[in-house]
Amino acid sequence: MHRVTNRKWWKEGVVYQIYPRSFQDSTGNGIGDLRGIVERLDYIKSLGIDIIWLNPVYASPNDDNGYDIADYRGIMPEFGTMEDFDLLLAGIRERGLKLVMDLVVNHSSDEHNWFLESRKSRNSAYRDYYHWWPAEKGTPPKRWSYFDVEGDAWNYDERTDAYYLHSFSEKQPDLKWENPKVRKEVYDIMKFWFDKGVDGFRMDVISFISKDTDYPELPSEYEGDFVSFYSNGPKLHEYLHEMHTEVLDRYDVMTVGEAPGIGLDKALDFVDEDRKELNMFFHFDLMALDREEKEVFLMRKDKWKLSEFKKIHSDWDAAFAQKGWGSMFLNNHDFPRSVSRWGDDSEANWHHSATMLQTFLLTMRGTPYFYYGEEIGMTNIEFDRISEYRDINTLNRYQTLKREGGDLEAFLLNEKDASRDNARTPMQWDGSKNAGFSKQRPWLRVNGNHTNGINVASQENDPNSVLNHFRKMVHIRKQHLGLIYGSYRLLQQNNEDIYAYTRTLDRERYLVILGFTDKKSTIVLGEIEFDRADLLISNDGHRAHTGGNVFELMPYQACVYVLR
Ligand code: NOJ
Repeated sequence: MHRVTNRKWWKEGVVYQIYPRSFQDSTGNGIGDLRGIVERLDYIKSLGIDIIWLNPVYASPNDDNGYDIADYRGIMPEFGTMEDFDLLLAGIRERGLKLVMDLVVNHSSDEHNWFLESRKSRNSAYRDYYHWWPAEKGTPPKRWSYFDVEGDAWNYDERTDAYYLHSFSEKQPDLKWENPKVRKEVYDIMKFWFDKGVDGFRMDVISFISKDTDYPELPSEYEGDFVSFYSNGPKLHEYLHEMHTEVLDRYDVMTVGEAPGIGLDKALDFVDEDRKELNMFFHFDLMALDREEKEVFLMRKDKWKLSEFKKIHSDWDAAFAQKGWGSMFLNNHDFPRSVSRWGDDSEANWHHSATMLQTFLLTMRGTPYFYYGEEIGMTNIEFDRISEYRDINTLNRYQTLKREGGDLEAFLLNEKDASRDNARTPMQWDGSKNAGFSKQRPWLRVNGNHTNGINVASQENDPNSVLNHFRKMVHIRKQHLGLIYGSYRLLQQNNEDIYAYTRTLDRERYLVILGFTDKKSTIVLGEIEFDRADLLISNDGHRAHTGGNVFELMPYQACVYVLR
């Protein structure tokens, strides 16, 4: 009998994230769409995953690729119609899969009707849906904005002689959660989608929703760190709890918050079951590992260390050892491709490092999130010229730097590793022109390596491909409850070549050994006892267990054993 009591589908499921603009174009306009996803549902099912997370598909002027929503109940015409959405949802259900949508409610688009009304007059019924600062009070206290060319989160609006707040671009005004009408609107939107049959939400920058509406000067403890300030709003948990009571409690759905600025010390405030807020959230500790301190877009000069990587994951595992539940991801639409970032995408090491990283995510506790293309080892594109980029983040930071007379060459070099567009290039279905993504020129250039084995068609029938390793590994996780719920124990924290750990559930015990180096490496696991180590899976034919407690790995080799 297993001791696992609080079993949940969203703990046992594997998530597959789809960036709709880049997945499959069915109309031939170079932009992915909903019918394109419908065409690929059998493929998605064949991966063995359980839950699809769809980035925003709502009506939007696309200042930030759908993260600026003009109609929360409407579908973006480029992506299709509500009929297409219903078709997609039905196809997902038919295959026994679940669908999680993006909920973007820290801000709307400035083209949302609420904002159009709000900015018309100070007396508008919608005035208080957004954060306004009347100009007669002087310049508002400094707030920093992610995508503003001047880095200023307050935008002056002549019509009513006032400033509005936008933590992201000036076309993404922040909604005022302090207004109960706004909260009611959000809850109604959520119910609308749940009543349609959607299974949950990934909540965009949910940690930012609560603001001190006295708009004080930035308190000194937050100097240089707006993100922590933004994520520490006074009523954040009151709102999340209210959302739970008003909406979430009534449905069997999953929630995962995107939570920049939230560290280990606050983790359980979000996901302790007794608090009735969220199921999971994404922290940013790993995403910050190879970046300059507090500069999430700047690559750090020295290389990250494996011991640091292990510490992040071990600490977060410990945070949820008794309560709550974690979420595991190595990349998404905001960060570069995992194999290029945490592995090695050179020809020699691409296959092994991609499959090693898959093995890692699928043997850790916490729900694993994969990003489209990760299953075939898609890599960073590394654009050379600014004209190739489409992302507002890269484009606007380039503008800022240009104005300031900064080093544009250094900037472009940094973006080769850091840019979000690295992860947004079209899905590589085959080796043909445009990689089977579209008949027309795609909205963002296809990575040339789709002709070189990094595509679904050429990996489909190769039993040793990255794609088929992914399928096998997903299957293995599903077959072994201990890999999902088992307790995690890190072995040899300071080993900079190998990440080794055990997972234990009652009498089930697994040993995971991951080579994080392009050289052969050896580990002697003196601290654990076992009679036999039966190999469950390896990404290399080389027999790593040479006897006793000694394991010798090929570069980037990954092995999972059952210990007896
Ligand atoms: C986080 C999203 O993941 C990102 O793509 C977006 O630009 C910002 N939030 C603003 O919505």
